[in-house]
Amino acid sequence: MYNAKAYSAASATSRLASTTIARREPTETDVQIEILFCGICHSDLHQVRNEWSGVMPTVYPCVPGHEIVGRVIKVGAAVSKFKPGDLAGVGCMVDSDGTCPACKAGLEQFCRNSTYTYNFPDKHLGGVTYGGYSDSIVVDQRFVLSVPKNLNLAGAAPLLCAGITTYSPMRHWGVTKGKKVGVVGLGGLGHMGVKFAHALGANVVVFTTSPSKKEDALRLGADEVVISRNADEMKKHTGSFDFILDAVAANHDINAYINMLGIDGNITLVGAPEKPLPVGAFGLIVGRRSLSGSPIGGIPETQEMLDFCGQHNITSDVEIIPIQKVNEAYERMVKSDVRYRFSIDMASLKSE
Ligand SMILES: NC(=O)c1ccc[n+]([C@@H]2O[C@H](COP(=O)([O-])OP(=O)(O)OC[C@H]3O[C@@H](n4cnc5c(N)ncnc54)[C@H](OP(=O)(O)O)[C@@H]3O)[C@@H](O)[C@H]2O)c1
Ligand SMILES: [Zn+2]
Ligand SMILES: [Zn+2]
Repeated sequence: MYNAKAYSAASATSRLASTTIARREPTETDVQIEILFCGICHSDLHQVRNEWSGVMPTVYPCVPGHEIVGRVIKVGAAVSKFKPGDLAGVGCMVDSDGTCPACKAGLEQFCRNSTYTYNFPDKHLGGVTYGGYSDSIVVDQRFVLSVPKNLNLAGAAPLLCAGITTYSPMRHWGVTKGKKVGVVGLGGLGHMGVKFAHALGANVVVFTTSPSKKEDALRLGADEVVISRNADEMKKHTGSFDFILDAVAANHDINAYINMLGIDGNITLVGAPEKPLPVGAFGLIVGRRSLSGSPIGGIPETQEMLDFCGQHNITSDVEIIPIQKVNEAYERMVKSDVRYRFSIDMASLKSE
């Protein structure tokens, strides 16, 4: 074991503060990574504040962070995929059983025995896993991704969660050229959804509560922007979408979007608000529409997404912050005041 620097929350109401955590020495199949950047996902905030207590209560101290990009510093004897000096990424998962049908299909996100990057039982050290708000992490090579060399690293970090979470359902629901695709909520996930839908050739409409984001949405690849608080603008799109990605982190009227789907249209929830969303049956019955959810993505698809980003030079639009500004960043994220992801420069942890 060795000590790593990190930022942790001591309770649901505590500010994140500097701390030291134990990490394991790399085993035969492990990769030890010096973390260079870690994105701030809204899920980090939900978990730090124990907003998902009903589904996955937070264990404190909590070290969040699952949008990790860094450089390999050491590898175990049996590691073939990486060598010291390589760029590496780690997303929301750090382990799974590797033997169940989901794992065999490369869909580790559905494994019942997977280990998430933070707030999950740590099989090696006991206690819970600690995430990427830290100067290093040790992860089994199966869960370490290759980051294309041409990508800006601060902007690549959010691909490990916001990227795969939006790419995966778009691929699953057949977003291609000629499809009409809606993206609801222009935050960290939403803005990646816009970039992917545009790169896949779809006609993209963004729904935002923030009129000030309109210009950005167009620049990011939207063909049209709708201010969702404007009822007239909303009506225009009734019954017309093939697919809608809902990336809203708070309670909102999902029925308004269900009614915008065409026949057999699908709306996929990736946003995970604290409280249940009421759904009207008729919105789904009429037009045989479907409502689904989607969690992150499997490891092979995460690598496919990173390679796609490498080819199309896609990264997240980030505001780089030192770790000392993380509490302020959380406050701003709640107010939708981030364009469009905070990325923590982990060099700032050296002074702690
Ligand atoms: N399914 C998964 O695997 C997965 C993975 C990662 C994250 N998530 C979840 O996805 C959600 C979004 O995460 P994120 O990191 O993208 O968050 P984020 O950056 O905070 O973006 C959320 C966006 O939702 C919109 N919004 C916020 N409050 C709203 C309200 N009251 N009514 C309507 N719209 C509102 C805002 O967009 P506008 O300003 O454009 O309205 C905001 O930018 C979170 O719940 C997160 O936990 C799920
Ligand atoms: Zn996330
Ligand atoms: Zn499995």
